[in-house]
Amino acid sequence: MRTHVALLVVFAGGLLVGAVEAWPQAPPGAPTGDPMRGKPLYEQTYRCYACHGFDAQSGTPRLVPMTRTQAAFVTYLRKPSSPAMPSFADVSMQDLADVYAHIRSLPTTAPSVESVPILRDILERRTREP
Ligand code: HEC
Repeated sequence: MRTHVALLVVFAGGLLVGAVEAWPQAPPGAPTGDPMRGKPLYEQTYRCYACHGFDAQSGTPRLVPMTRTQAAFVTYLRKPSSPAMPSFADVSMQDLADVYAHIRSLPTTAPSVESVPILRDILERRTREP
C-alpha cells in the first residue's frame, strides 16, 4: 500500500511538472521600439534574416515566439553567449529596440499550406493524379 501511495505521488508530481512546463510563458512586456523602422534594420542593415529567416521562424534558432524581454534581448545581442551569433555591441539602443519590436510584430505560427500558392499547387496536383 505504501508503495502505491509513493508511486501515486511520483506520478502526480510528474503530471504537475508537465503542466507547469506546458504553461504558456508570461508575455515578455511591451516593446518600446518602432517595428516599421526595425524591419529594414533586421532585413538589410544588420542582416539578421540571413541566419534567422525573414519570418524569424526558420534558421537556427527561431526567434519567434520571442521569450526574452527587451532588456534581455539587448544584453544578449551586445554580448551573445555563443561565438556562432555575431555581437552587435556597437549598435545603438534605439536600433536594437526597433529590431526587437519588429520581431515581436511577426506572426508566431507558420502560415497554413493553403496560403502559400506553390504549396497549394503541389497539393492540388497530387489530388488530381490518378
Ligand atoms: C551569422 C549568423 C547570424 C546572424 C547574422 C544573426 N544571428 Fe542571431 N543567432 C545566430 C546563432 C547561430 C544563434 C544561436 C547561438 C547559440 O548557439 O547560443 C543566434 C541566437 C540569437 C538569439 C538568441 C535566441 C535564443 O533563443 O536564445 C537572438 C535573440 C538573436 N540571435 C537575434 C539576432 C538578431 C536580432 C540579429 C540581427 C541584429 C541576429 N541575431 C543576427 C546566428 C546569427
